[in-house]
Amino acid sequence: MADIRGILVTGGAGFLGATLVRRLAANGHAIRVLDNLTTGDASYLDGVEVELIEGDIRDAKTLDDALEGIESVVHLAAAGSVVMSVADPATNFDVNVLGTFQVLDAARRAGIERTVLASTGGALIGDAIPPVDERSLPKPISPYGASKLAGEGYAHAFAKAYGLGTITLRFANAYGPWSARKRSAITMFFRAIDAGEPIVIYGDGSASRDYTHVDDICRALELALECDAAGGTVLHVASGVETTVQELADLCRAAAGVPKHPIEYRPKRPGEVERNFASYDLAQQVLGYAPSIGREEGIRRTWQWFQESVFGGR
Ligand SMILES: NC(=O)c1ccc[n+]([C@@H]2O[C@H](COP(=O)([O-])OP(=O)(O)OC[C@H]3O[C@@H](n4cnc5c(N)ncnc54)[C@H](O)[C@@H]3O)[C@@H](O)[C@H]2O)c1
Repeated sequence: MADIRGILVTGGAGFLGATLVRRLAANGHAIRVLDNLTTGDASYLDGVEVELIEGDIRDAKTLDDALEGIESVVHLAAAGSVVMSVADPATNFDVNVLGTFQVLDAARRAGIERTVLASTGGALIGDAIPPVDERSLPKPISPYGASKLAGEGYAHAFAKAYGLGTITLRFANAYGPWSARKRSAITMFFRAIDAGEPIVIYGDGSASRDYTHVDDICRALELALECDAAGGTVLHVASGVETTVQELADLCRAAAGVPKHPIEYRPKRPGEVERNFASYDLAQQVLGYAPSIGREEGIRRTWQWFQESVFGGR
């Protein structure tokens, strides 16, 4: 393993950050987190040796201070919701486009060797026939997808104009521990089951996604920190498996031991793509990435985590 010391993780107190920071700290890296705790939670990092700076990525001075003594950056901080981006596109732009620009510009000033950025597969490509890959034409259908595409544009431009070592990973839909504050399908389905309320599916259940366990996504992030790929590289990190929302509800019901739990169907929401799953072939070639946790096993483990960490105390 390459000797990577001093890693700044923006948004490290969020869902993906909680697993990533644990993984990197366990592997001997010195970790600093910059997070404004809007959707994250400082308690997610309890018990981990990490320096937490509460601050905003849109503030250049905060970033300059946070980058002191740092060699690599993982940029996770974002306004991550498609639905919220449709309701409030200006905030989404501010955090994701301006914020990502500020992170890249600060990394340039600080001479950071490797900057790994979190992007998205489904929302960025839009309604294409899956599987999507790095050759698919991005046509976002939500402000969130557009903001991530803009961030990728700056990451590529900064690699070419300034030699910044950027790598952008386009994640599929992540799930797993520390996702209790998310409004993603698996979290909402488990919460509905726990509350004894119907699972709500927007649309008829035929829409599909690529559900990838957070451990696999964080392994890819770690591989991206260690690899020597050229600046400006973009890679899809996914499971490669298409799962309809109906199948997902069935998997969640099975994991919770309530296969007949009621489902309520509501109208489809704007901004959400119809079908999506991605090929991870290029990530396999460049990083040696391959998913290791199948959906049944991953969803069962996630239900267990919710039982023990979120629902258990009730
Ligand atoms: N979770 C997924 O399924 C998924 C899929 C594709 C891409 N992504 C991307 O991965 C990244 C992490 O996602 P997540 O699911 O962990 O989201 P999250 O909301 O749990 O984490 C984001 C973190 O960023 C912090 N943050 C937000 N705005 C900030 C700001 N202005 N300054 C500093 N910190 C700020 C939040 O407090 C939070 O801790 C995001 O960039 C997201 O767009 C996630």
